[in-house]
Amino acid sequence: MRVVVTGAGGQLGHDLVKAFADHDVVGLTRADLDVTDEAAVVASVRDHAPDLVVHAAAHTKVDAAESEPDAAWRANALAPWWVARACALGDAVMVHVSTDYVFDGRSDRPYTEFDAVNPQSVYGRSKAAGEQLVRQTLPRHHIVRTSWVLGAHGGNFVRTMLRVGRERDAVKVVADQTGSPTFTFDLAPAIRRLAVTGRFGTYHLTNSGTCTWYELAVAAYREAGLDVAVAPITTAEYGAPAPRPANSVLDNLMARLTGLPPLPRWEESLPRLVAELAPAAAR
Ligand SMILES: NC(=O)c1ccc[n+]([C@@H]2O[C@H](COP(=O)([O-])OP(=O)(O)OC[C@H]3O[C@@H](n4cnc5c(N)ncnc54)[C@H](OP(=O)(O)O)[C@@H]3O)[C@@H](O)[C@H]2O)c1
Repeated sequence: MRVVVTGAGGQLGHDLVKAFADHDVVGLTRADLDVTDEAAVVASVRDHAPDLVVHAAAHTKVDAAESEPDAAWRANALAPWWVARACALGDAVMVHVSTDYVFDGRSDRPYTEFDAVNPQSVYGRSKAAGEQLVRQTLPRHHIVRTSWVLGAHGGNFVRTMLRVGRERDAVKVVADQTGSPTFTFDLAPAIRRLAVTGRFGTYHLTNSGTCTWYELAVAAYREAGLDVAVAPITTAEYGAPAPRPANSVLDNLMARLTGLPPLPRWEESLPRLVAELAPAAAR
């Protein structure tokens, strides 16, 4: 199978290229392909002639998106539309990666694939629009919603916590948002398993188990052997520009019903991430 991965310079894109390594895989970084350029996207998909495109490129700076909405809409809504159109022209399947932030986070239970979206931020609204455009353009798609993505290649919460924990002995971390930390080395192989099923539609894929950012920070410091005092604060106290869902937990309902294996519990995968990040964080 010939596979193209967009956003290959990002956290998930990097591990997707690894997950498809025994296929004929091409990873495209932003320098290789600007996914907001429709003509370039069509030409790239035509030239590589893939059976599958895994679209992992996105504008992921949730707070910056509030002040640069057009950039977020271009990358998160238009770009997946261009990729879907190019896949339709080239008869390729598309995996489109989306987010828990399409939900408002007010539910008292995990969100299923059948719950109505109600995004609260520019990032969430632009990602929800990207999903819609993929659905209406390309029947042969998998939309994969995930959450709290953590990988060894790129910026993320655990990387930041480890760096800060080496500089200070006390940090304040938000304790009223709950989600499922999801590790790119678990998610990328799960996407690969899904992509060969031929069962198109929307899927939630996250690591198992839930925690708050506060609990994740405490666990990361314990794992890294760093003695840092972690104080819980509220989302309001933290005061980020973009609203975040209080409940980000995604029920992996469709994966479970269709017999795909669950991803490991987050506590089982955290040690591997900390080990991979520790040398970088020490620098
Ligand atoms: N990070 C999370 O917590 C999270 C949570 C839920 C869902 N997701 C979704 O998961 C997917 C992967 O996220 P990630 O964590 O791997 O993000 P990431 O590390 O920020 O990777 C995204 C990549 O896309 C690239 N990109 C941005 N605009 C582009 C453009 N116009 N053309 C080509 N490439 C472009 C970025 O390049 P630059 O670095 O040069 O901008 C970056 O390499 C995204 O769809 C994201 O929405 C992420």
